[in-house]
Amino acid sequence: MKILHLSFECYPIAKVGGLADVVGALPKYQAKLKTESNVIIPFYDNSFVRKSKKKELYQGKINLGNQFYEYTIYKNESKKIAFNLFYIYIENLLDKENVYGYEDDLYRFLSFQLAALDWIKNNEVSFDVFHCHDHHTALIPFFINYCEDFIDLKDTSTVLTIHNAQYQGQFSHDLVNLLPSFDTNYSGLLDWYGQINPLATGIKCASKVNTVSPSYMEELKEKANGLEGLLRTEGYKCVGILNGIDDLFWNPETDKMLVKNYKQTNVVSGKRKHKNELCKKYGLNPEYPLFGFIGRLVGEKSADLLPEAIKEAISKDKEISIFLLGSGHKNIEDELTNLKEEFKGNFNVHIGYDETLSHLVYAGSDFLIMPSRVEPCGLNQMYSLRYGTIPIVRRTGGLKDTVIDIGDDGFGICHDQASVWDICYSINRASILYKDKTFFRKIQKKIMKIDHSWAKSAQDYLTLYTSINKPSQIYND
Ligand code: ADP
Ligand code: GLC
Repeated sequence: MKILHLSFECYPIAKVGGLADVVGALPKYQAKLKTESNVIIPFYDNSFVRKSKKKELYQGKINLGNQFYEYTIYKNESKKIAFNLFYIYIENLLDKENVYGYEDDLYRFLSFQLAALDWIKNNEVSFDVFHCHDHHTALIPFFINYCEDFIDLKDTSTVLTIHNAQYQGQFSHDLVNLLPSFDTNYSGLLDWYGQINPLATGIKCASKVNTVSPSYMEELKEKANGLEGLLRTEGYKCVGILNGIDDLFWNPETDKMLVKNYKQTNVVSGKRKHKNELCKKYGLNPEYPLFGFIGRLVGEKSADLLPEAIKEAISKDKEISIFLLGSGHKNIEDELTNLKEEFKGNFNVHIGYDETLSHLVYAGSDFLIMPSRVEPCGLNQMYSLRYGTIPIVRRTGGLKDTVIDIGDDGFGICHDQASVWDICYSINRASILYKDKTFFRKIQKKIMKIDHSWAKSAQDYLTLYTSINKPSQIYND
């Protein structure tokens, strides 16, 4: 079976968050199941793409409205990537440095999807499944079923993975002529609440739809930024498949970004080394329990609650250290930065994105805080388990599916509300646990043994692909 993953992120080429980690890891595990996994992403203007060896495969043209764009398909030839990787180059559209945040993002998402289909249609390449990730590539199932230009591809199965339903890519019907001409009997498939909504269209038209954890799928049926009714109606083809982690890359025994590698048998000295390093660099006391946080500073992650929670927690207990790594809303960044002076010695923050530092935080922290309001899956908690760092999570989405409270014979600390009080209560429980060194070490060793590798979930995706009976997917409206 030949799979093509269509995505705007893929680690290590272009990463904003967990989507990159998933698309950079799942194909490797799919290859072990004798499926041929391919990935196609934009040809970014970044150092990885510039430096890596690649071969030009094809040149073609697409149009968005009445404007033509030339595109070029390249195949990666760098040995650093363990699966077939293709890039789409479009001058001034896809050759940007960053992944998102441009005024012409809509043009970038549309041109990417159209160029990918145009290349496949005009060449000897074929795939059994188009695996689309998030709204950026969610119009593919509509295009192949209802656009004359791509109708030859209609027998290809489609899977839409929803990594985050908050972002749906809506745009006005006034821009409908940016789309290739389609059978107007089906224009209703493009609409959701008066706008063209790529994520909703993907849910309606894909052969199968999945979220990145089972609990998130259930939650979306109740609350999904306007998509709940649709997910209930289309529920017959929807499923939740828990993300895995690349356990070869995220492995403290071999991780090249660590100062000293460690495993279960020397976890105490291994983590101590990284904790000392982190605390020295950021002026924190290594004798206190160290609470880490890594992530986007946005409401979904409850980052707006962190400044108040830090003040409260440190005011109540002077014997804790907290370190945050992240970037996001300017006001949250500023609030956190302002706390550095007031709580010097107990708290520090690094505003920005830093992959190497993130590995030091996973390895050096005693606890990792994830108080998310919404967490479709979350990878941080699984990385932290692997590095012997106890997760403190709000029971939501994938966090609920991967972390069991120590009070329930589990290994983490869980709370239910997205509130300052709940975060502080959990921090307090963690401090008490930290003082019981025998139990604390026992949990550290236990969590490092938990297997969250992609092996099982890669099999679940294969089962999902093989459950598709083409051409029965046509939507009846
Ligand atoms: P999301 O995709 O919603 O941001 P995930 O938990 O799925 O959340 O994945 C986040 C990924 O991004 C992890 O690999 C995490 O280590 C990484 N990450 C997030 N923020 C930063 C940062 N500021 N610096 C380095 N890595 C980060
Ligand atoms: C999204 C979600 C996150 C998930 C990631 C990878 O960014 O916010 O919870 O882990 O996608 O699927």
